[in-house]
Amino acid sequence: MSRIKKLVMATNNKNKLREAREIFSPIGIEVLSQKDLNIECDPEENGKTFAENAKIKAEALYSAIPENIAVIADDSGLCVDILNGRPGVYSARYAPDGQKCSKLLDEMKDIPDDKRTAYFECCIAFIDENGEYKSFSGKCMGKIGYEEKGTNGFGYDPIFVYGDKTLAEMSAEEKNNISHRGNALKELYKYLKESE
Ligand code: IMP
Repeated sequence: MSRIKKLVMATNNKNKLREAREIFSPIGIEVLSQKDLNIECDPEENGKTFAENAKIKAEALYSAIPENIAVIADDSGLCVDILNGRPGVYSARYAPDGQKCSKLLDEMKDIPDDKRTAYFECCIAFIDENGEYKSFSGKCMGKIGYEEKGTNGFGYDPIFVYGDKTLAEMSAEEKNNISHRGNALKELYKYLKESE
């Protein structure tokens, strides 16, 4: 069991919130949104790494909440090897939603199969109810496909191939079991259990 039973997630991204809830609710941790606490918080993400941006978001929310409740923030993105890790920390800003996948497929149109390797990375910044900060990261290794497949998930899921499916062809449970976010949140949970 974890000593933390409730935390608030520093995000306006419904999908990140949904996935964190899918992973944490079954193990008894309630994930609240900023909205649940009526808090507007959208700091400038000017860090150069996922870890820096996650920390910026977690600290901004922690200082905005009235009660001392634990906070998590997720910063994540897709890193394509042949593009030297792009779009990386700029994944959200690479193109508008709805055009991200097609733009990346276009950039990758002449890239052969063996050079289409990519990974998702997620950094979870955690600040406990006493203000103590810790961070956890997770990766998911895969490849960029040739077309969009599947309707689940969000962002780049329809073009990210893991095994023989895209993340958008997986059920929520399947994705959460292998995803960068799932892996980072599992590390946080391990820490919470050990630090009781
Ligand atoms: P940020 O962490 O708010 O900077 O945004 C990360 C961006 O990376 C999201 O807007 C998505 O486009 C992309 N991303 C992060 N995690 C995932 C995922 O699990 N699936 C697909 N795209 C993701």
